[in-house]
Amino acid sequence: MGPGHRTRARRGVRTGVVHRVAAPPGAAGEAAGESVFSGPVGRYVSLVRAVVQDRYASPETLRVREVPTPVAGDGEVLVRVRAASVHPDVWHVVTGRPYVLRLMGAGLRRPKNRIPGTDVAGDVVAVGASVTRFRPGDEVFGETTMGHQWLNGGAFAEYVPVPQDALARKPGSVTFEQAAAVPTSGLLALNNLPRKHLRSGQRVLVNGAGGGVGGFAVQLAKAHGATVTGVDAAMKLAMVTSLGADRVIDYAREDFTQGGERYDLIFDVPGNHSFAECRRVLAPGGTYVWIGHDRFGAAAGRWLGSVPHGLRLVVMSRFVPQLPTVTFSRPGKKDLMAALAGLLEAGKLTPVVDRTFPLSEVPQALQYLQEGRAQGRIVITV
Ligand SMILES: NC(=O)c1ccc[n+]([C@@H]2O[C@H](COP(=O)([O-])OP(=O)(O)OC[C@H]3O[C@@H](n4cnc5c(N)ncnc54)[C@H](OP(=O)(O)O)[C@@H]3O)[C@@H](O)[C@H]2O)c1
Repeated sequence: MGPGHRTRARRGVRTGVVHRVAAPPGAAGEAAGESVFSGPVGRYVSLVRAVVQDRYASPETLRVREVPTPVAGDGEVLVRVRAASVHPDVWHVVTGRPYVLRLMGAGLRRPKNRIPGTDVAGDVVAVGASVTRFRPGDEVFGETTMGHQWLNGGAFAEYVPVPQDALARKPGSVTFEQAAAVPTSGLLALNNLPRKHLRSGQRVLVNGAGGGVGGFAVQLAKAHGATVTGVDAAMKLAMVTSLGADRVIDYAREDFTQGGERYDLIFDVPGNHSFAECRRVLAPGGTYVWIGHDRFGAAAGRWLGSVPHGLRLVVMSRFVPQLPTVTFSRPGKKDLMAALAGLLEAGKLTPVVDRTFPLSEVPQALQYLQEGRAQGRIVITV
């Protein structure tokens, strides 16, 4: 907040939580400062801290500022954020690359929602109209949006409004930091693992098993009794084994597509091998699932990223039995989040947190993510 910005502590009207309060623009003492307040909302406006992104740019440009306290809309709850997490798609939306994401709702010239972050854990402080599933005091975790992840979701803030169906109750057995590490990568893993291969006797290979999505895929396949091989960098293999993998492969020493093993499912996160190479080591009736990783712009085009490759596989899936057919009848986010909460509660899913950063160090957290050294998830504590 800028010098001369009038502040005082006051009880927030909607939330019952103490906020900083600023005089509206034009009041005595108001200065431009760092406030992103843009219009008068009553006599006083309560302010909360948030990471603000004015334009698509390098993560170093992100700053913590003070913004008006958000309000829970119809069907939304207002969450006091205790922890949030970073993942590669946060980097994509902050930088605006690949450019196609700007056409997919993120905002053409600048981000529509100026506060990044989609994964959150915290407690409910207020509920909007027609909310039936939660009430103030509930501890929750989930995504902040109902749609895809190429949008800013407002999680890197002290408070965020979240659609109730994007949330589940946080099990008491996990911390807020652990819970915040789960939503997007857990949903991606759960939604893309074909059910027919989640059972005992199935041989599952997870390529990129030491990453966010791959780590959950290993645990989910193991929880259902499959035999799991995890492929990743040497430094991450001990962690992959601790997640339950039966066998691990260092990708720098061994190319799994050239080995003699056969797999019923190849769950491919980095996508560094072609489908034809992977098909070689698929067992009869096997499935290849591609997640894909742009490697922060280094492995795919500036304009479309890996979207064309994904679309090619979708078209091929109509003719090639090893590729899963894209279906729109999958369970919704509400059911998937409930399933993740159940797995956490049962101890079948254990989120591994590598490191936490305070809200003011979101740029450093994104830099650390990009370096690829993290062994587990990177969490922002608020
Ligand atoms: N995690 C999320 O919450 C999330 C959310 C939305 C979308 N996504 C998308 O899902 C994709 C994966 O995300 P992620 O979070 O799982 O990424 P990640 O944490 O970076 O995991 C990728 C893993 O693959 C490994 N890898 C790199 N090259 C490899 C190779 N040649 N062979 C085997 N493993 C290799 C990486 O290791 P190195 O350290 O060697 O690079 C890393 O451990 C991304 O496209 C992302 O945009 C993820």
